[in-house]
Order: sequence, then C-alpha cells, then structure tokens
Amino acid sequence: MEIERALHMVGGDGNDSYATNSRLPMKAIMETKPVLCKAIEGVFASLSSPALAKIVIADLGCSSGPNMLLVVSGVIGMISTSGYLEKMELQFFLNDLPGNDFNYVFRSLQQLKQLADGREGSLEPPYYIAGLPGSFYTRLFPYQSVHIFHSSYALMWRSKSSQSGVLLNKGNIYIGKATPSHVVKLFQNKFKEDFSLFLALRSEELVSGGRMVLTFLGRKSSQMLAHGDVGTMWELLAEALQILVQKGRVKEEDLTTFNLPFYAPSVDEVTELIEESGLFDVEHTGVFESSWDPHDDSKSNGGDDVVADCARSADSIANCSIRAVIEPLIADHFGESSSSRCMSPLLPSILRKEGLCTLS
Ligand SMILES: C[S@@+](CC[C@H](N)C(=O)[O-])C[C@H]1O[C@@H](n2cnc3c(N)ncnc32)[C@H](O)[C@@H]1O
Repeated sequence: MEIERALHMVGGDGNDSYATNSRLPMKAIMETKPVLCKAIEGVFASLSSPALAKIVIADLGCSSGPNMLLVVSGVIGMISTSGYLEKMELQFFLNDLPGNDFNYVFRSLQQLKQLADGREGSLEPPYYIAGLPGSFYTRLFPYQSVHIFHSSYALMWRSKSSQSGVLLNKGNIYIGKATPSHVVKLFQNKFKEDFSLFLALRSEELVSGGRMVLTFLGRKSSQMLAHGDVGTMWELLAEALQILVQKGRVKEEDLTTFNLPFYAPSVDEVTELIEESGLFDVEHTGVFESSWDPHDDSKSNGGDDVVADCARSADSIANCSIRAVIEPLIADHFGESSSSRCMSPLLPSILRKEGLCTLS
C-alpha cells in the first residue's frame, strides 16, 4: 500500500467526514493551547528585532476540518494580544498528504474572519495562508525558514506499513494480544526510524530559537496493550474484519496482509528519541487523557466509569474515532463495497460488547 496516496481523512463536510467528526482531536488542541502560547513567547524572546518580524508557522498534518482553523486563529489571537503586534507579519503553511481535501481547507478559511470578529477590540497582524501538500517525512521547507512547527494527532502515522512479519500477525491489523514480540519490535523500529527522520528534517528547517509543539495520540504507559488505549480500538476493528471474513465479505488473505501504518508511542519513547537525536532541547512534556467519546468532555480513562448512553457513545466512537479517520485506508486495501460500508454496523455493536465506550 502506498501510504502517501491511500492515507487521508474522509473529506468534505458530510455526516461521515472528518470535518464533522473531529471533536476528539479538537480536545487535544484546546488542551495544548497554553503550550503553543508559551512556544510563541519563546520565539519572540529569541528574535533580535521582534517589532520587525515575519513569523512562519507550519501546521503539519492539518487535515480538512475545523481544527486547523482553531490553530491558525489561536496563533493570530495570541499574537494580537502579545504586545509584539507592530510590523509583525505571519505566514502560515497548512501541510498534509496530497490526498487531503485541500479544497475544503481553502473554502473554510473564510471562517477565520468570523473567529476574528469574536475577539473584540484587538487588532490583528497581517497574515498569509498557503496549503502545502507533501509528507512530513520529507523536506518541506528551505533551510532555517520556519519559526514554529505545530502538529497534532498526526505523528502516530507511519511513512510505510510494516510488511515484513505481517503473516505472523494473522487476524490483527495492529499490535494485538496475539502479536509476537518480534512483530511488536517491527512496529517500534518503524516509529523510531520515522520520528528520527522527522526530527532531522525539522531541525534543518527551523530557525535558530524556533519551537515545535507536537501532540501524539499515544500510550499513557510503557505497557503495550493497556485496556482503553488506542490498541484496544484497533483490536475491535480487527474483530469486525474477522467477522466479515467469516461472512465471506472480505478475503482472509486481504486481512492477513493488512497492517496499520500506525504506532502509538509512550511519552518515554518520544522523549528518548528526541534526547538521542541531540537536535532539540525538550522544554515541556505532558500526558493528558480524554474520553474516547468525542461528546464526553470528562477526562475519564479507567474501567470503572459509567457512560450514560452506551449505545450513543459507541456510535460516535465508531464514527468519529474510527470511520472518519480510517475508512479511506480500509477502502483502499479491502475495496470500497466489501469492507468499509458493511463494517459500519458491526463496529458499534462490537464496541458495545467490549464496553470500550466506558473507557477513554
Ligand atoms: C487525525 S488527523 C489530525 C488532523 C488535525 N491536526 C487535527 O488535529 O484535527 C491526522 C492527519 O495527519 C495527516 N498525515 C499523516 N501522515 C502524514 C505525513 N507523512 N505527512 C503529512 N501529513 C500526514 C493525515 O493525512 C491526517 O490528515
């Protein structure tokens, strides 16, 4: 599978689209706003003449939805109230893979005006926005030209799916309970390789004194399969696919040869790689939890929480956390009709059966 072509969120603004179903990552953007604000202050502090500056900000893996608007308007808002406004100009680059719905991105930029109208009384700096298709596992910018890299919920995607060892991960699509340890190692090594490359590329593109704010969908502990982590969700998706194999709607061989180009790292894995690279200083790391249910704002992440409406929760997890994100990839591998369409009624029932809707 060629990831650059096959991986993209569901475009447009229909019921199944990422734009309509991206409240879960939105929670992460809200949570990390103070960190982004601190990063901007750090960049200003490092500028020799902040009153005459052009600041370049890149959102890597922006997708097509309201979250990238939140990032752009958030940065504009922070700078508007920073006291550094005079003669400040901002250049935003919105990056994603070429299959991303950039038309939706460009159309939605007009909503920035409404967001600005909500910020009463403050002037805003002139800003310019450009789309940038390409993989963040390649060079995207000229040498030392970017002040701030932001990336949220994107770096857990790999540049390639791990092919060697897939036959030994039969019935799974990610690291599951039955996955042999050397296959787990393959997933880990691919993450190490990709993230080290990412760090090396960004270190060339970042200006001296620049900052990166990176948010991963990750694991809260070093344990590979903690109940409620994202691995549980991919196990349920694998189970849904196994049922389709039993019903003859998906070929067994197609399931055997499918491994998600994904790895959810722990915070220690991320910080160790940054330290090993010697390319960046870590100013802040943090872990936060959120419920898998996009409409549940509690930070529950334990097995004892009770969800008021389990059926509704299961449906929104299936739509928001799974379908809007993974349907194009599944359709690319298994075929449009045989997999993604008939998978949708199966997933909520499996989620309900497993009680995942009670966990984050
Ligand atoms: C779950 S979405 C998150 C989007 C957005 N940042 C948000 O918070 O809502 C992850 C995005 O990362 C993009 N992505 C994955 N791998 C990428 C790569 N190598 N280069 C650029 N974008 C990538 C995907 O296409 C997808 O749009």
